[in-house]
Amino acid sequence: RILRGAPHDLAGRTVVISAGGTREAIDPVRFIGNRSSGLQGYALARTAAARGAEVVLVAANVALPDPAGAKVVRVESALELREAVLAASASADVVVMAAAVADFRPADPRGSKIKKTSGEPDPIDLVKNPDILAELGERRRDGVPYPRVIVGFAAETDDVLANGQAKLERKGCDLLVVNQVGGGLAFGTPDNAATVLVAGGQPVEVPRGPKDDVADAVWDQVAARLS
Ligand code: CTP
Ligand code: CA
Repeated sequence: RILRGAPHDLAGRTVVISAGGTREAIDPVRFIGNRSSGLQGYALARTAAARGAEVVLVAANVALPDPAGAKVVRVESALELREAVLAASASADVVVMAAAVADFRPADPRGSKIKKTSGEPDPIDLVKNPDILAELGERRRDGVPYPRVIVGFAAETDDVLANGQAKLERKGCDLLVVNQVGGGLAFGTPDNAATVLVAGGQPVEVPRGPKDDVADAVWDQVAARLS
């Protein structure tokens, strides 16, 4: 894929992208995690850099080489991801939350390995993680001008568009990229198909294709909102 011909419509813009999936410690050797590979987030970072943006990539447990031109901050848990994203987004033009953030974490991660005993295991109590995307949306509603464009992602299995639209409004984002999970798409696959929901505008369909194409469609919408 030749990136040399990419438009330079993000030159001078700072974008923060979260990618991958968080891990929530149960004990020093175990975690609750998810199937996110980071491929879509990395595609967003690569394409944004090619379009001239200054890119901060907050990567949660991603086994991929650093994309050219991005500053990579590695994190593990949702709380660490929140710190890194909020710190980087204070003066950013755009934040894209492509990471799969665990909704819950063990309430009381053990300091030493849980041992198998003769009886049944103790249940693991969970608490809710903060919703980083909603927090960014709330801050802006409270008058903070940054980030100027907030982009969320959602993987839905049912009522894809209705659920996506409700999520867009609930979280106060400008764009929400909705993926349909299944059919050989989304998690860990090179291809994706998506609908980009636009606050106050018409949805944009991105046909099945490489994750770079979904990324470029997102940046087209972002660039239009920034100009
Ligand atoms: N997200 C976030 N912080 C969380 C959970 C999710 O910032 N604690 C972000 C994700 O990065 C994504 C968007 O919110 O951009 C939507 O995530 P999703 O899991 O689809 O939404 P939830 O509100 O968690 O709803 P549910 O999982 O119940 O569908
Ligand atoms: Ca969730």
